[in-house]
Amino acid sequence: MQTEAMPIHTTVTTASQLANLDLDNLQFGKVFADHMLVVDYADGAWQDPQIVPYGPIEVSPATAALHYGQALFEGMKAYKTVDGQVVLFRPRDNWARMNESAKRLCMPEIPEEIFMEGLKQLISIDADWVPQRQGYSLYIRPFMFGSEGLLGVRPANSYKFIIFCSPASSYYAEPVRVKIEEYYTRAVEGGFGYAKAAGNYGGSLLPAKLAGEQGFHQIIWTDGREHNYIEESGTMNVMFVIDGTLVTPALSTSILAGITRDSVLTLARDWGMKVEERRIPIQEVVDAYAAGKLQDAFGTGTAATIAHIKSITFRDQEMELPPLAEREFSNRVSKELDAIRYGQAPDPHVWVVPV
Ligand code: COI
Repeated sequence: MQTEAMPIHTTVTTASQLANLDLDNLQFGKVFADHMLVVDYADGAWQDPQIVPYGPIEVSPATAALHYGQALFEGMKAYKTVDGQVVLFRPRDNWARMNESAKRLCMPEIPEEIFMEGLKQLISIDADWVPQRQGYSLYIRPFMFGSEGLLGVRPANSYKFIIFCSPASSYYAEPVRVKIEEYYTRAVEGGFGYAKAAGNYGGSLLPAKLAGEQGFHQIIWTDGREHNYIEESGTMNVMFVIDGTLVTPALSTSILAGITRDSVLTLARDWGMKVEERRIPIQEVVDAYAAGKLQDAFGTGTAATIAHIKSITFRDQEMELPPLAEREFSNRVSKELDAIRYGQAPDPHVWVVPV
């Protein structure tokens, strides 16, 4: 298949798995769409992109990414609107953020045309994998890794950029119980927490597992220096409504610039709500709870969209948030984002891009 914009050599699968897709029993990230985009970087340049059947890739045991962590990814979604049109949500923001991550990890940036055209052609070919059902989408996973076989510690000379997809519904089955983490750290000032680097997620697994053993779904990460300030929750940005004001940690080198985060803040400002992006001491949340002013708490992320927080535990105190029905802001913003994505509401910021 070819387009005028950019020719992409495409090999269509002869063994589509679409007939096996069971939306009623969908687990996040377990089923993969039929095709993937693969682009190699070699000799200082990105080579011709290809769309091929989804499947294993061969790598050298000395692959740089496996040893020294030159690996990053993105998360984004395609939706099928009520009219049956396939759309992407803010894809250029993912492209831009991917390149920010790439710079931090000494990896080559992806040209916009390769990312956008490759993405659009991939999603077009797998358009039937985008579920037409409220609350469902096609989760898209672009990623890149240093593919050169080498043992010296230096940036690799060759890379692979791949995009593959997985139909998805909600990430969390229920509102989450979270604990404020005061020992382990996700990211530090000057580190690479703002990059969507694979290593950030690897390092989070043990603290998350330990929290899980204590009955929590997730962690609220705190700053690496003093453990006094709120940073993120699990793999999401975190927000609170305190006495009518939407408050979220300001972006820094230790916080991911979430695209859902930005969308929520933008809508809140559109609606005339008071919004503060700043440092949030744990004590402020505890005091707001004691004063009956902690009205809402939720995580924001591509996979989870808006994940309501049921309770926040700090040391031996479990702070129970108001019932979901009373969460005016998070319910409204969650509904509005869905309405924009499914083509049921105006899109004043032009976030939705047809494929
Ligand atoms: C996303 O929301 O895309 C994430 O990064 C979460 C993912 C690690 C499942």
